[in-house]
Amino acid sequence: MVIFGTNGMLGHALSEVLPDAIHLGHPDVDITDEIPVKKVILRERPFAVINAAAYTDVDGCEENQDLAREVNGRAPGYIAAACSEAGALLVHYSTDYVFDGTRRDYQEDDHPNPINAYGESKLLGEVSIQKNLKNYRIIRTSWLFGGHGKNFVDTILSLSRQMPAVRVVNDQIGKPTYTIDLARATPDIISRAPGIYHITNEGQCSWYEFARAFIPNAVPCTTAEFPRRAKRPEYSVLVNTKTLPLRHWREAVLEYIHAKERT
Ligand SMILES: NC(=O)c1ccc[n+]([C@@H]2O[C@H](COP(=O)([O-])OP(=O)(O)OC[C@H]3O[C@@H](n4cnc5c(N)ncnc54)[C@H](OP(=O)(O)O)[C@@H]3O)[C@@H](O)[C@H]2O)c1
Repeated sequence: MVIFGTNGMLGHALSEVLPDAIHLGHPDVDITDEIPVKKVILRERPFAVINAAAYTDVDGCEENQDLAREVNGRAPGYIAAACSEAGALLVHYSTDYVFDGTRRDYQEDDHPNPINAYGESKLLGEVSIQKNLKNYRIIRTSWLFGGHGKNFVDTILSLSRQMPAVRVVNDQIGKPTYTIDLARATPDIISRAPGIYHITNEGQCSWYEFARAFIPNAVPCTTAEFPRRAKRPEYSVLVNTKTLPLRHWREAVLEYIHAKERT
């Protein structure tokens, strides 16, 4: 098995869960370089390739749309084409931000309609894969937290220690997901039929409700009070109709925080 993006947050979790895979970080292979990507896949001829590499700075994608399209949109197509030639299956991660947030409970076959450049680039990635390979599993996930990356839980914990009150938006609803739980669910997805999967921890909440689960001094605010470069969907709850549910995010976040405190 070959994993791209192993220096990222999810990539680290995948490396823990799948230690025998070939782990490739950004310095090893840039996924936007079509020829090296093809070379490594044809050389290793793995049974499966997992792509956790992406440009994930949602606000940065608004400013750097060409880069976003290249990394998140076209590069997954290069990986998929190489997988097709090598007879490998591809697992790739996409996002709740392919949806516009105007509906409720997004299922796997619901129509995507991204409202920001990150979501557009990730949708382009899904399409590029589907054009180049039949044997794919696209896993849409949301609101990731875990070790070795910039994430909401770490940011809020740190702010909570520095200031008396931390304002957190209460009008965007989604499903937090622990990278370790998603990584552990990935081998099962490999054994399933090709297609799109929605894999998140169970339970939905606002960012404020998420923060209140682990800090006492969060106070709710609105998105309008907290302007960001990229628009976010108001409601991006992914519904998993295909596999067994993961545990609730509340249990997962407490485990993550306890694990952090031990290190
Ligand atoms: N984070 C979330 O909340 C979230 C939510 C939904 C879906 N997802 C999806 O889940 C997946 C994993 O996300 P994550 O949070 O683990 O991301 P992450 O921590 O930002 O890690 C992404 C990794 O990709 C690498 N990378 C970027 N451009 C690359 C390139 N051209 N070639 C090779 N590697 C490159 C980055 O390396 P550098 O740091 O060196 O650039 C980084 O190590 C992504 O597909 C993301 O879209 C994430």
